[in-house]
Amino acid sequence: MKFFLDTANVEEIKRIARLGLVDGITTNPSLIAKEGRIFKEVIQEICSIVDGPVSAEVIGTKAEDMLKEAYEIAQWAPNIVIKLPMTEDGLYACNELFHKGIKTNVTLIFSAAQGLMAAKAGATFISPFIGRLDDIGTDGMQLVRDLKTILDNYGFTTEIISASIRHIGHVEKAALAGAHIATIPGSLLPVLWKHPLTDIGIEKFLSDWNKATLK
Ligand code: E4P
Repeated sequence: MKFFLDTANVEEIKRIARLGLVDGITTNPSLIAKEGRIFKEVIQEICSIVDGPVSAEVIGTKAEDMLKEAYEIAQWAPNIVIKLPMTEDGLYACNELFHKGIKTNVTLIFSAAQGLMAAKAGATFISPFIGRLDDIGTDGMQLVRDLKTILDNYGFTTEIISASIRHIGHVEKAALAGAHIATIPGSLLPVLWKHPLTDIGIEKFLSDWNKATLK
């Protein structure tokens, strides 16, 4: 499974990338706004740190505007992926970019039908939002399982990015479901390598070692 970081915070990216755990980055307008920096500058800085795909989202809602933005953003770095919303205009733009060889990530996927449409339009990645589905009382992970089955049934090369990840269980279950990628908030990823019993175990080993008379 590939790990993407779901953040536009350069310090978070640097800290975790040095461990070799970051295969790519996803951003969205909310994450960029949080940084209070120029969109192009942040994306270019991120692309200089991470070799893998870096998703940058368009703001336009009409296909024409999306494509205008996409052609400009695609020139910022070689590893840019254009993030498009799951709408009719988004699908049109996705298909146009597919034919131009530009990678896309169709975002805000909440049903298997939406994921299938995006894959058919040539999306490189699709992003089902697990946490937001859980928030409305449905099982977000079931969508990931369904999408995996559908993509496998027809041999699509589109990859599933499990998005809107809120806790460790989401990452573990997405891996069990065979999702290609989990995009994880910068604050959550460090939690993945922690366990209280590991810390207690280390403490006990060290205290036993220090009590021993023969070393
Ligand atoms: C994915 O690409 C999105 O940026 C992200 O996962 C959204 O997550 P949220 O529901 O926590 O905002």
